[in-house]
Amino acid sequence: MKLSSFAGRVFGSVLYVASTALAQDFATHGMYTEPNTRITFYTSYQQDGPITGGGEFSMTSVGGFTFGMALPPSAATTDYYDYIGLVIGSTPNKKGWTGVLHGDQGAGMPNHLMILAWPTGNGNEIATSFRYSPCFCAKTNCTNSSYQLPVIYQGSAKLTKIYTNVNDTHWTMVYKCSRCLIFDDPSQSEFNASTSAGQFGAGWAQSVTSPVNPPDPNSDFSQHDNGQGSYRIIVSSATQESYSKWESMTATAAPPSSTTTPPTTTTLPVSGVPVPTQTSYDYVVIGGGAAGIPIADKLSESGKSVLLIEKGVASSARWGGTYRPESGWLDGHNLTWFDIPGECNRIWNGGSAGVACTDTDQMAGCVLGGGAAVNAGLWWKANPSDWDYNFPAGWKARDMQGATDRVFSRIPGTDHPSLDGKLYVQSGFDTLRTGLEKAKWKSVTANNVPGEKNRTYAHTPYMSANGERGGPMATYLVTASKRKNFQLWLNTSVERINRVGGHAVNLDVSPTINGGRVGTVKLTPVTGRVILAAGAFGTPKLLFRSGIGPKDMLDVVASSSDSKVMINSASWINLPVGQGLNDHLNTDTVISHPNVSYYDWVEAWNTPIEQDKVNYLTKRIGPLTQAAPNIGPMMWEEIKGPDGIVRQFQWTSRVEGSMGEPNGNTMTLSLYLGRGSVSRGRTSINKGLNMLVSTIPYGDPNDLAAAAAAIDSMVKTLNTIPNITWVHPTANLTGAEYLKTLPLDYANVGSRRSNHWMGTAKLGTDSGLKGGTSVVDTNTKVYGTDNIFVVDASIWPGMPSTNPSGLIVVAAEHAAELIQRLPLNTALPKGAKCGGADYGGSQVCRDPFVCKVVSKSLSTCA
Ligand SMILES: Cc1cc2nc3c(=O)[nH]c(=O)nc-3n(C[C@H](O)[C@H](O)[C@H](O)COP(=O)(O)OP(=O)(O)OC[C@H]3O[C@@H](n4cnc5c(N)ncnc54)[C@H](O)[C@@H]3O)c2cc1C
Ligand SMILES: *[C@@H]1O[C@H](CO)[C@@H](O)[C@H](O)[C@H]1NC(C)=O
Ligand SMILES: *[C@@H]1O[C@H](CO)[C@@H](O)[C@H](O)[C@H]1NC(C)=O
Ligand SMILES: *[C@@H]1O[C@H](CO)[C@@H](O)[C@H](O)[C@H]1NC(C)=O
Ligand SMILES: *[C@@H]1O[C@H](CO)[C@@H](O)[C@H](O)[C@H]1NC(C)=O
Ligand SMILES: *[C@@H]1O[C@H](CO)[C@@H](O)[C@H](O)[C@H]1NC(C)=O
Ligand SMILES: *[C@@H]1O[C@H](CO)[C@@H](O)[C@H](O)[C@H]1NC(C)=O
Ligand SMILES: *[C@@H]1O[C@H](CO)[C@@H](O)[C@H](O)[C@H]1NC(C)=O
Repeated sequence: MKLSSFAGRVFGSVLYVASTALAQDFATHGMYTEPNTRITFYTSYQQDGPITGGGEFSMTSVGGFTFGMALPPSAATTDYYDYIGLVIGSTPNKKGWTGVLHGDQGAGMPNHLMILAWPTGNGNEIATSFRYSPCFCAKTNCTNSSYQLPVIYQGSAKLTKIYTNVNDTHWTMVYKCSRCLIFDDPSQSEFNASTSAGQFGAGWAQSVTSPVNPPDPNSDFSQHDNGQGSYRIIVSSATQESYSKWESMTATAAPPSSTTTPPTTTTLPVSGVPVPTQTSYDYVVIGGGAAGIPIADKLSESGKSVLLIEKGVASSARWGGTYRPESGWLDGHNLTWFDIPGECNRIWNGGSAGVACTDTDQMAGCVLGGGAAVNAGLWWKANPSDWDYNFPAGWKARDMQGATDRVFSRIPGTDHPSLDGKLYVQSGFDTLRTGLEKAKWKSVTANNVPGEKNRTYAHTPYMSANGERGGPMATYLVTASKRKNFQLWLNTSVERINRVGGHAVNLDVSPTINGGRVGTVKLTPVTGRVILAAGAFGTPKLLFRSGIGPKDMLDVVASSSDSKVMINSASWINLPVGQGLNDHLNTDTVISHPNVSYYDWVEAWNTPIEQDKVNYLTKRIGPLTQAAPNIGPMMWEEIKGPDGIVRQFQWTSRVEGSMGEPNGNTMTLSLYLGRGSVSRGRTSINKGLNMLVSTIPYGDPNDLAAAAAAIDSMVKTLNTIPNITWVHPTANLTGAEYLKTLPLDYANVGSRRSNHWMGTAKLGTDSGLKGGTSVVDTNTKVYGTDNIFVVDASIWPGMPSTNPSGLIVVAAEHAAELIQRLPLNTALPKGAKCGGADYGGSQVCRDPFVCKVVSKSLSTCA
C-alpha cells in the first residue's frame, strides 16, 4: 500500500533560471587542489547562509555549494566534451540532494544536462543520476514553463567516480564526466557547450530533503528548496597541464603522491562464492518474495531439488537479518525492523538503503521476502470477482478455492494483532465509523465475507502472527528450509537465463554483496524448469535480458553492457513483456477532526514510547503490533463507470497528514481504483539495465469518471460527522474538479501510485506470439518456451479489489499444482516435431540431434 506522504512532485516545476542569454554569474571563484586526489580545480562557490523565502530561489544555501572543473589545455581552442569535476554538496541534518547543471551560453533548466547526486546512506557511497527537463520548443527559445519536469537522460554522458567522502554535513565527489559538455539525448536536438568560446554557463540547485529512495539513482525527489543559481566557467582558468594524467585515474588507483589518507572507493569489486559445478537443479525459483517463497516450498514437497535464489539480504531476524535501530533498543532481541509491524513505515523514512530495489524507478523490496518483508502486511482473501472477472478458465474463483484454503490455513491473518486481543490507537477508525454507520455502510470482518465489497467497511486484517510480521517467511520458508532437497541462496542476482531455442539450460548469477554466488547454475538436463518470481519489474527485466520481449526492448539490451553475452537475435522470442503494466490508481484525500490524534510512528523507530516498547518486547501487545500509521477503517464501494463497467474502489484510511497538511488531527483517505479499471501502462528497460515506468497505467476517462463518483460519495457519507473538515478536496470542489487539480504524469507518479505493480507478463489464452496480449499461458508457462514459467505479480490480467499480496501467495499455491501436473519434457528422437506455431511440448532433442526450423509451423529434431 501507499503510505508515503512524500509529495511526488519534483525538481523543476518552475524554471530555475529562465535565462536564454549568457548565464549570470553569482558565484565566488577560485582555484583549489583537492587533497585526496591532488587534482586542481577552477571552483565556483555558493555562499553558506540561511535560505530566503521557500528556498527555491534563494541565492544562499545552507551549508554552501562548491563545484570545480578541470579541462585539458586543448579545450581552449577545440570544443571538448569531457571534464573532471568536483562537487561538495551540503546535507544539513544528513539529508538532501545536489544538482549540477551543464549549461551552454545560458544555464536554464530546460534541455540542459543535470547531474543529481546524494549520499545513499551507505558509508561514502554517492548516488548519481543524469537527468534533464525536456523542452517541447526550440532549444534557444525555451521559455515555455508549463512542462519542465526532469526525466532520465538517455544521451551518451558517463560518470566515473574517482573519490567520494560523506560526513555529517557534507559530501564530496571527484569524478570524470565523459560527454557531459555535449547534450545528445536522442529525443532532442544535439548541441554542445563550446569550450572554445572561452566561457560557458553552469548552474546548481540543492535540497535539504533526501530523495524518496536514496539508494536508487533513479529515485523520485522533491523540488529543490536549498537555493539555486548560475555561474560561468572561464575555460582558461579551468585548463590544467596535468589533465591527461588525472583523466586516467580510477577509483581504485592510489592518488599520486598523496600525503593524506587514501581515497575511499565506492566501486570495490564484490567477491562471490563459485557455484558448484557438479550440481544441477530440477527447479530454480528466481526471487524470494511473496510468490517465490511459497512456490519454492510447494515444489520442494515432492522431493525434487529446488534452488531459491534471492538477490537481497536476509530481512527477518529468523533468517539472519540484522537491520535494527541505531539507538539499540532492539539489540539482543530476535527481531529486526522487518519483524515489527509498527516499524513497516521505515521503508519511507530513511530505511530504504540496502532494502529497496535500486534497479527500478519505483519502490519495491529487494530483500528476502520481497514486498512481503517491507509492506504493511495488509492481508486479504480475494473477492471472488477478482478471479472471475480478470482471469481465464482454470483461474476462476471456483478453481482457486483449494489454493485459497491452503494459504489461509497457514497464514490466517488477524484484524486483532495485539496478543491481548485489543485494538490500539483507534481515534481515526472511531471518528469515521460514525459517518459510515449513519449512511448505512455495513461493518464486516473482511476475510469472512470477501465478496462483500460495496458500501462495507472493516478493521484492517494483517498477515501477522504472534505479534510479528509473519507471512511467507514465517511459514512456507520454514517448512521448505527443513527439506534436504531445498536450498536458498541470498545476495545472489540472476543475470539471465540461457536458452537453446525455447528451452532454458542454465542461469548466470552474480553476487550483490560479498559472499553471494558467482557462476552458472545448471538445470537438470531435459526435465529442469525455471520459475521467474522476481516481481513486476524484476521479472520483465530478466525476460528482456534473456531475449524474451518486444523487439525495441531487446534492442536496448543488445546495445547495453549485455551486448556480448545476450542471446543471438535469431533466438529472440517476441512477446509483449512489460506492456500490461498496472497498479491501483491512488488518489489521496485529507480530512481533519478534533477527535483524531496522531501517533508518532517515525519517532517509534529509534525512541518508541517507553510503555509501548516494553509491552511489545515482553508481551507482543500494544500499538507496535499494528502496522503504521493507524490504518483503518478500510472501506469499499462498487461504482459503474460511464462505459457500463463496474469498478471496485478501496479506501485506506490512516492517521497521518499528506498533501502538505501537517500531522495532528488529520487523516489521509487513499482511494484505490481496483477491479474494472481499463488503463494500462508499460515498463521499459534502459541502457543501464534499469527498469522504468515508461507509460503510467492511469488516466482512462471512464476510470477517472468512476473515481470522481467515488470521491463524491465518500465526501457526502462523511459529511454527516459533526465537526469534520474536508481539507482535500475543499468543500467547493466536486470529485471531478478535484481530480483535475491532481497531475497524472510521470513527475507526480509518487502520489498517484499504490506500489501494487502487476501485469507485466500477463496470463491469458491470447498468445503474444500471435499478436495477443499474453506472455504466459494458463499453466504460467512463457509462450514459445518449454520450461520457463512466471509466477508473481507480473501475471495479473487486471487489478484486484484489495492490496494484492494475499492473492499472489494464493496464485503461487495454485501454479505449483498446475506446473507439477504438466508432463516433464522428454528428449525427442530424430524426426520428431520440436517446435512451430501452437507447439507447446518439449523442444529438447536426443543427443546428437538438434531442433531445427523447417517452416513457420514446424521444427523437427535433425
Ligand atoms: C512499500 C510497499 C507496501 C506494500 N503494502 C502492501 C500491503 O500492505 N499489503 C499487500 O497485500 N501488498 C502490499 N504491497 C504490495 C506487495 O508487497 C507486492 O505486490 C508483492 O510483494 C509482490 O510480490 P512478488 O512476488 O510479485 O514480488 P516481490 O515480493 O517484490 O518479490 C520479488 C523478489 O525477487 C527478488 N529479485 C528481483 N530480481 C531478482 C534477480 N534478478 N535475481 C534474484 N532475485 C531477484 C527481489 O529482491 C524480491 O525479493 C506493498 C508494496 C510495497 C512496495
Ligand atoms: C527565437 O525567438 C526569436 C525572437 O522571438 C526569433 O527571432 C527566433 O527566430 C526564434 N528562434 C527559434 C529557433 O525559434
Ligand atoms: C508549452 O508546451 C506544452 C507541451 O508541449 C504545450 O501543451 C503548451 O501549450 C505550451 N505552452 C505555451 C504557453 O506555449
Ligand atoms: C565535512 O566535509 C566538509 C567538506 O569537505 C568539510 O568542510 C567539513 O569540515 C567536514 N566536517 C567535519 C565535521 O569533518
Ligand atoms: C528467533 O525467532 C524465530 C521465530 O520465532 C525462532 O524460530 C528462532 O528460533 C529464534 N532464534 C533465536 C536465536 O532465538
Ligand atoms: C452498490 O450499492 C449501492 C447502494 O446499495 C447501489 O446503489 C449500487 O448499485 C451498488 N453498486 C453496484 C455496482 O452494484
Ligand atoms: C464540535 O465542536 C465544538 C467546539 O468547536 C464542540 O463544542 C462540540 O461539542 C463539537 N461537537 C461534537 C459533536 O463533537
Ligand atoms: C475553494 O475554496 C478554497 C478555500 O476553501 C479557496 O482557496 C479556493 O479558491 C476555492 N476555489 C474555487 C474555485 O472557488
